[in-house]
Amino acid sequence: MNQIVINADLGQASISKHIYGHFAEHLGHGIYGGFWVGADSLIPNTRGIRNEIVAALRAVRIPNLRWPGGCFADEYHWMDGIGPNPQRPAMINTHWGGVTENNHFGTHEFMDLCEQLDCEPYICGNVGSGTVQEMQQWVEYLTSDGASPMADLRRRNGREEPWRVRFWGVGNESWGCGGNMKAEYYAHEYLRYQTYLRNFGDNRIFKIAGGANDTDYHWTEVLMKEARSNRGHPCMHGLSLHYYTPDSPSRLKGHATQFGEQEWINILNAATKIDGLITNHTAIMDQHDPQRDVGLMVDEWGTWYAVEAGTDPNFLYQQNSLRDALAAALTLNIFNRHCERVRMANIAQTVNVLQALILTEAGSERIVLTPTYHVYEMYQVHQDATLLPLDLRCEDYNFGNQTMPGLSATASRDRAGRVHLTLCHVNPNRNVDVRFEVRGMALKAVTGRVLTADHMTAHNTFNAPAQVRPSALPTATIQNNQFTLTIPAMSVMVLELQPSATV
Ligand code: AHR
Repeated sequence: MNQIVINADLGQASISKHIYGHFAEHLGHGIYGGFWVGADSLIPNTRGIRNEIVAALRAVRIPNLRWPGGCFADEYHWMDGIGPNPQRPAMINTHWGGVTENNHFGTHEFMDLCEQLDCEPYICGNVGSGTVQEMQQWVEYLTSDGASPMADLRRRNGREEPWRVRFWGVGNESWGCGGNMKAEYYAHEYLRYQTYLRNFGDNRIFKIAGGANDTDYHWTEVLMKEARSNRGHPCMHGLSLHYYTPDSPSRLKGHATQFGEQEWINILNAATKIDGLITNHTAIMDQHDPQRDVGLMVDEWGTWYAVEAGTDPNFLYQQNSLRDALAAALTLNIFNRHCERVRMANIAQTVNVLQALILTEAGSERIVLTPTYHVYEMYQVHQDATLLPLDLRCEDYNFGNQTMPGLSATASRDRAGRVHLTLCHVNPNRNVDVRFEVRGMALKAVTGRVLTADHMTAHNTFNAPAQVRPSALPTATIQNNQFTLTIPAMSVMVLELQPSATV
């Protein structure tokens, strides 16, 4: 028996729109050849930024974009990326293939991109190889008005008004590529760096400490104990967490589109492991911060496979199948459920890298929207909506020696009072009938869309871009505020539950 009861008139916690955030690193063709084509390109662009990508991401209401890394952030020196292009010094991107970075995409270009996307910037500062002064000056350059050396430099580079920048990361993966620090050492460094993240004018910095990888609970414990506050002054607004599916070291073994049912359940089960991770990191945070003032920011997550044949292994370019759509849907349902602590999440990485929403064709203007893109398009209904309690009972899906619940769901009520349900059905072998019951709202109609395909490896390509895309659901018949739907095998669904005019 598969059944979902939705309590439409309950719920208190809000699902932050920032859970639907993104990440763009100077890595492979994420920026260059992805977002950025340059103003001289024949590919339609606005000041060098590819128009079609901006339009696609605006359509999913991208709330924030994290930049410039990732591991790149801790070797990036922002002053190399301002001023006229010919005067910008080049550098070697040592972490991602040793390619030459010409710094043509820098601070002004990133802020222009965020303005075109209508999203908030999330900047990750350099702790590993940078200085406190460098980070302090970057904040001043971006956000200071009035008379200040950095504001004057910004004006000389063509931007009169300060930008607003809220989200600020203090280093990335400081336990690894960001400096190989111990938790105790980073906690001290964090306190020192964050001291100089000044609030200019009415700009308010939301300080995000570099957090744990996967099950590194010691890191979370130390950061919450040592760096959350100092002598009664709060020093941290968010603490990050990174989790890739499957977790290393096996993550490089699988292929994005050549797999069978064993790899199907391996990946989907591994994706749901983040539920336990969030629960455990939250429990530690709760001990030090019972009011839940500090957000858990899952600012890197997604699937990580072997790269596509013939591509540079350092560029992390992978295709994206229906399996990735389900991995994203399961993960987003988990984030939604934990929204009291999880305030932000950033899928890695929006364009051409890892679990991308968009792939671009080299040297052409063609782009393809991946199955993961369609999940973001469908799930945007939850952005800033109120999480509704639901009771889900379902059959398990079993394969080999693995078992997982067949269904996963989120229900929410948006600010206009509309109720939405997203549903993910992981069994690739059969459809299931699910009975839905709505309580606390008189139900008039149900509309919805479903994302599925006829095989589990289905994916979109430049020549066949619509193999996996949502389609409309048949109308459901409502009786006594209940209805039954046949949920296709291996599918993601979004429903809108429309109330009668009077309850
Ligand atoms: O997203 C790719 C890399 O994964 C990031 O640069 C790093 O932070 C993580 O290890």
